[in-house]
Amino acid sequence: MNQNEIDEKSTVYGSHRLSIAPMLDWTDRHCRFFHRLMTRRAMLYTEMVTAPAVIHGPRERLLGFSPAEHPVALQLGGSDPAELAQAVRVAAPHGHDEINLNVGCPSDRVQSGCFGAVLMERPALVADCVAAMIAESPVPVTVKCRIGVDEQEPSEILPAFLETVAAAGVRHFVIHARKAWLQGLSPRENREIPPLDYPLVIAMKRRFPELTICLNGGVATLSQAEELLAQGLDGVMIGRAAYNEPELLIGADRLWGCEPPRDLDRVLADMRPYIAEHLAAGGRLHQITRHMLGLFSGRPGARHWRRILSEGASRPGAGLDLFDEALEAVRPRAA
Ligand SMILES: Cc1cc2nc3c(=O)[nH]c(=O)nc-3n(C[C@H](O)[C@H](O)[C@H](O)COP(=O)(O)O)c2cc1C
Repeated sequence: MNQNEIDEKSTVYGSHRLSIAPMLDWTDRHCRFFHRLMTRRAMLYTEMVTAPAVIHGPRERLLGFSPAEHPVALQLGGSDPAELAQAVRVAAPHGHDEINLNVGCPSDRVQSGCFGAVLMERPALVADCVAAMIAESPVPVTVKCRIGVDEQEPSEILPAFLETVAAAGVRHFVIHARKAWLQGLSPRENREIPPLDYPLVIAMKRRFPELTICLNGGVATLSQAEELLAQGLDGVMIGRAAYNEPELLIGADRLWGCEPPRDLDRVLADMRPYIAEHLAAGGRLHQITRHMLGLFSGRPGARHWRRILSEGASRPGAGLDLFDEALEAVRPRAA
C-alpha cells in the first residue's frame, strides 16, 4: 500500500481534534492508560523513542502498550533514513495507529545526534527520512515540528518545510507554534520563552488545505482548543496542561460532539484493577500514581492527596490501601 491508500483506510485523522503531546518520562503506558479512561477519542502520543533504541533496546519496554490505549501514536527520533526505516519495521508489529517523527525537540543530547528541532534546517533530509519510514509503515507517518529555529524567519521557512515534507508523502503535521533556540535556552525554557505564533499556524492550514494541521503550544483549556478549531485548524495538541491537570480530559470528547464518557469516580474505580495487575506483576504503585498527582487540583484535600502518594507510593509494598488512604484524604465523605 502506498501512503495515499494508507491514509484513505486510516481512521486516525479524526482522532486529532485533540491529541495529548509526546512527553519524555511523562506519557508512558501507565499515563496513557489513565488518560484513556477520561477520553475515548483523543490521540495519545508515546514519549519519543530514538530509532537506535527501538532497534537495539528492550523492545517490549519501549514499544509495548495495552490495547485499551488505542489510538496511540509512536513518536520516533532520528535523522538517518535507513535507521528510521528499520525502526518502523521493528515497531510495526506492535500495532501503533500512527508513527510520528520528532522535529521539535531542542535538547542538547538530541542536537548532538542531529535530530529533533535542528532538522527544521534540513527539510530535504526530513523528506528522505519520512519517505523511508512511509515505505515500511502500515500506518500514517506524521511529523511534529516547530515554526523554525534560531535566526530562521518562520513565515518563510515553515511553508517551504511543509511543502517539501508533504511532497514526500506526509499529510498530517503537528506544529508547536514557537521557535526553538538551539543554543542558550534549556529544553524547558524552549517551551516557555520563544513567543507563540498561532496566526502563523492557522495561516498554514489556509495555505495547505489538503494537509491536516494540528496546533500545539500553550493551550490550557478545552474552550481554548474549541476556539482554535473554530478557526479552521484540524486539531489541537495539549501537553503540560493535560498532564498537570488531567481532569481537563474528562470533558474532552465534547470536541467530537460526544458526551463525556466517564466521571472521575468511574475513572478512579477503573484504575484499581489496572493498579492491582501492575502490582501483582511486581510493579510499584508510584509508577502509576505519579501520573495522577495532578488530580483534584484546586480542591480541598488536593495537597494531602499529592503528599500521601508522592511520599508513600514508591515504598516497597505500597498498594491499593495507600491509594484508598489518599482518596479518603481528598474526599472524606466518599469513604
Ligand atoms: C516533560 C516534557 C517532555 C517532553 N518530551 C517531548 C518528546 O519526547 N517529544 C516531543 O516532540 N516533544 C516533547 N515535549 C514537548 C511537548 O510535546 C509539547 O510540544 C510542549 O510541551 C508544548 O505543548 P504544551 O504547551 O501544551 O505543553 C515535552 C514536553 C515536556 C513538558
